[in-house]
Amino acid sequence: METQRFDGAEKLHSALELRRYKPSDFDQMIRNQRNAGLPGIMTSRFLEARIINDPDSTLVAVIGCEVIASLYLHAETDARISSLVVKSNYRLMGVGKRLLCEAERILKEKGYLVVCLKPSDTSIGFYKKLRYVPIERSEDMSKQL
Ligand SMILES: CC(C)(COP(=O)(O)OP(=O)(O)OC[C@H]1O[C@@H](n2cnc3c(N)ncnc32)[C@H](O)[C@@H]1OP(=O)(O)O)[C@@H](O)C(=O)NCCC(=O)NCCS
Repeated sequence: METQRFDGAEKLHSALELRRYKPSDFDQMIRNQRNAGLPGIMTSRFLEARIINDPDSTLVAVIGCEVIASLYLHAETDARISSLVVKSNYRLMGVGKRLLCEAERILKEKGYLVVCLKPSDTSIGFYKKLRYVPIERSEDMSKQL
């Protein structure tokens, strides 16, 4: 998949679409996760079973056919977000923030008051910026929705 070039974040954002995962996103999404060194890669079959159960359980950010970011939503007894990854050449342009805000909006709409996540060592500053706070005696962070 050829990466597109944008002069500025504004143009990128006008071309960016946030939507539910489709099975055709799988290869690109998993490649982005692997390149970011994320653990616990899910299989396509498992992801398909998850979206039948909850169509919002995987969200992607795309530009045309290019998957540039993704995350998992776990709307169960508690609300969790995991595996947020932005393709490396699209980082620091507000894509992660937009996808995370969309996930938070969906969780809030479902009635959750708090969301938790486990940050990677290098993403703690990002989540702090987005008003997540560390949970005492835990590696998790949380945010009031
Ligand atoms: C962490 C990650 C998702 C951030 O996505 P991104 O699209 O680059 O972040 P954004 O551009 O939306 O950043 C939003 C704000 O956070 C800041 N920020 C981004 N990454 C940061 C970091 N690692 N540390 C501190 N601040 C950071 C930005 O400067 C921006 O600040 P601003 O609003 O004042 O301009 C991305 O770097 C990534 O995919 N990392 C590898 C995978 C990973 O570690 N994921 C977390 C797994 S839980």
